[in-house]
Amino acid sequence: MITVFKNNIEKLSRLDWECVNENTTYLTHNIHPYHSKYIPQIAGNLIELLSNEGDLVLDNFSGSGTTLIEAKLKNRNAIGVDINPLACLISKAKTTPIEEKKLKTETAKLINNIRLAIEGIRTQKSLNSFNKAETRNEKEQYRIAEFLYIHGWFQPQVIKELSIIKHYIGKIEDKDIKDFCLMIFSSIIREVSNAASEFGNLMISKRKSLVKNTFERFQHKVKDATKRLVEFSRTVSDSKIKVVHKDTRNLNFIGNEKIDLIVTHPPYIAAVPYAEYQKLSLRWLGFSDRELDNIIIGGKRQRDDVVERFNLDMQKVFDEMFRVLKKEKYCCVVIGNPVVKGKKIELNKVFVEMAQKSGFNFVKEIMRGKYHTTMGKMKEEFILIFQKQLE
Ligand SMILES: C[S@@+](CC[C@H](N)C(=O)[O-])C[C@H]1O[C@@H](n2cnc3c(N)ncnc32)[C@H](O)[C@@H]1O
Repeated sequence: MITVFKNNIEKLSRLDWECVNENTTYLTHNIHPYHSKYIPQIAGNLIELLSNEGDLVLDNFSGSGTTLIEAKLKNRNAIGVDINPLACLISKAKTTPIEEKKLKTETAKLINNIRLAIEGIRTQKSLNSFNKAETRNEKEQYRIAEFLYIHGWFQPQVIKELSIIKHYIGKIEDKDIKDFCLMIFSSIIREVSNAASEFGNLMISKRKSLVKNTFERFQHKVKDATKRLVEFSRTVSDSKIKVVHKDTRNLNFIGNEKIDLIVTHPPYIAAVPYAEYQKLSLRWLGFSDRELDNIIIGGKRQRDDVVERFNLDMQKVFDEMFRVLKKEKYCCVVIGNPVVKGKKIELNKVFVEMAQKSGFNFVKEIMRGKYHTTMGKMKEEFILIFQKQLE
């Protein structure tokens, strides 16, 4: 079997990794926006060629779950680890199959309850009075949300409608359906906020027009995401996917030499400030963006020691990946080279040194050049393949 993988390493070099004309948003892949996702074909090809059906795959920076979805589609078991609670919610919801009838019945009930509540408050009052501070009654009934700067980020009626939606999601008993609906709720938050754009830097737009259709956007998203999850649930194998909300610098919940393949995509130092970009969703879901920024790798990006901290953290990560991987098996790390304080850092080279220090053999580097990310940008990216030797 190991010889087969050796031959497949050569095959990997011959694949078209640019994937310019390929669909990167099939099934549940694009239900929720997530910064710096990789395209599913990267994880899919590596899993296909470097592991067997029934194997256990690890993605220890699992983000929005791209690797986990591909593992499930290819009948591999998988563990995803991420320190970001929003990432864990998204990847769990995107990889958990739900029985079609149950899902459709529950979401129809949810939409109906929300519609009745929202139509009630929309018709009772003119839009003007509706926009004024909510009555005590509504505040108590729906627990109108309150968090730092909420009134700057959201218009009054949006706050009310989002609070009502969240209130009824909270009443769903089935945990998987509840998480699925919370994930959809989170996916519309930025588009109904006063943010100037739906992605990237988060800034308030003073010219944002009145958002009148928060509920309708949620309803539309529920319909689309349900269709995608139903199709995903019909397509996938019954392999097991586990999402763990933990710090990947310490994988002590995984024993030595338990993993058959690692496919992962660490942060590009501090290129993406996850806590800042995702703070509206995090706050609506009751998570602290400040706390996340303090613990995430690449967090506290304004400080001078951001690169040194990143290097120390990543060495721990390589040591842990080496420990949990079975002998003779492969570890694939996808990375780009960020610019920090005006200087390009060649993480592809830094990572090879780190991996070797942890004990890995460096097998191959594949470069993707003029490719499109899921956001349509063009940049360089490297797939580094390492192997844990017999001894
Ligand atoms: C480049 S993204 C991975 C994106 C993923 N490949 C996808 O397609 O969605 C890197 C991820 O590392 C996570 N991360 C950063 N520090 C971490 C840590 N100490 N432990 C676990 N995950 C961490 C971030 O939350 C982020 O989701």
